[in-house]
Amino acid sequence: MSTPKTLSGDDSIKTWLEHPVGGPIIRDLLAQSGQNPDVLKPVQRLAIKRLVKLSKGQFSQEMVDQLVARAAAGDVPAGADASVEAPEPTTESADAGAAPEVERPEWVERLDQGRFAGKTVIVTGAGSGIGRATASRIAREGGRVIAVDVSQERLDDFASEHEGAEIVTLVADITDDTKVAEIVAAAGDRIDGLANIAGIMDDMTPIGELTDAVWKRVFSVNVDGTMKLMRAVVPVMLARGTGSIVNTASEAALRGSAAGVAYTASKHAVVGLTKSTAFMYGPSGLRVNAVAPGATITNIEATFASPLGAERVRQAMAILPDAAEAEALAASITFLLSDDGVNINGVVLASDGGWSAA
Ligand SMILES: NC(=O)c1ccc[n+]([C@@H]2O[C@H](COP(=O)([O-])OP(=O)(O)OC[C@H]3O[C@@H](n4cnc5c(N)ncnc54)[C@H](O)[C@@H]3O)[C@@H](O)[C@H]2O)c1
Repeated sequence: MSTPKTLSGDDSIKTWLEHPVGGPIIRDLLAQSGQNPDVLKPVQRLAIKRLVKLSKGQFSQEMVDQLVARAAAGDVPAGADASVEAPEPTTESADAGAAPEVERPEWVERLDQGRFAGKTVIVTGAGSGIGRATASRIAREGGRVIAVDVSQERLDDFASEHEGAEIVTLVADITDDTKVAEIVAAAGDRIDGLANIAGIMDDMTPIGELTDAVWKRVFSVNVDGTMKLMRAVVPVMLARGTGSIVNTASEAALRGSAAGVAYTASKHAVVGLTKSTAFMYGPSGLRVNAVAPGATITNIEATFASPLGAERVRQAMAILPDAAEAEALAASITFLLSDDGVNINGVVLASDGGWSAA
């Protein structure tokens, strides 16, 4: 039998879980906090060291270092099951001809220095998740960012992580017309881009159980807020004959099985806002596109208020690819926002690891 490899922080969570020494150590650690290894499934392809950032410090760098040291010392907890717990092969992967399981190289964000130099971009939802990753990338690529969120605390945290970058933070609810006017005023008479990213989930209810409150709240942020920002920036962009808007749709804009009816309908509406505006103002120099994220690791909250909704959506999730990091979505959004998207107008770009191809 071959000697198992020495584990490091760069090895994937999957490699750790399947390792004869690393696996029992991790499972023991999870059991101590009442967790099952299944919680790591959506992120199993990521290097274990990535958990430090993703868990916002709950899983610290010291814990990674300790794990690596324990694995190197063969420090398997007493009574732990030291057997290798490889996941059951699926019917597909057991098939002859299926792609072999290899450790995939990790994707690493590669900055395009100066891509946004001299440009002003408004980013909503900049305090967390996809919005934060997008605002960060634009700032690190030389842009001036108007970072908008309802949370002062999140914006302060974002700004403090980007000292020296050109960032204007603005606490604003995108459903409030007065605040929308403030956002546009803060940008000034040059708005090169708008990344409409702020959005909220619903509670997975089907139409028969939908409350007016959920419908109104979800539409107010996802549709009204998106529309209000678009309406406000278009005259400024038209005055310069150029501008790029990227709206955030969702897998729920492409299929009926990714959320409840309110969220699904709201994201289909975002596609309508995108296509109509792209069509109307394309000849005037504006580009308007949408990105449709698949599962992404962020702080967005999805509740399950309906047993039927929960069962139906969970069934559909069986074909879900691994969740992506917010930075992977920022890569798609900044591509569309930047001049690299020069010939792209009116598309809904699925950035979902192939979910929409299933
Ligand atoms: N995470 C996913 O799996 C996923 C999948 C598909 C689509 N999306 C979409 O991506 C977008 C970003 O979501 P995320 O997952 O990064 O969520 P997130 O909750 O991590 O971040 C959203 C941010 O928007 C802010 N926000 C919410 N309502 C606001 C309002 N009215 N005005 C201003 N700011 C507001 C929140 O404070 C938060 O900081 C949303 O439109 C969401 O629908 C997310």
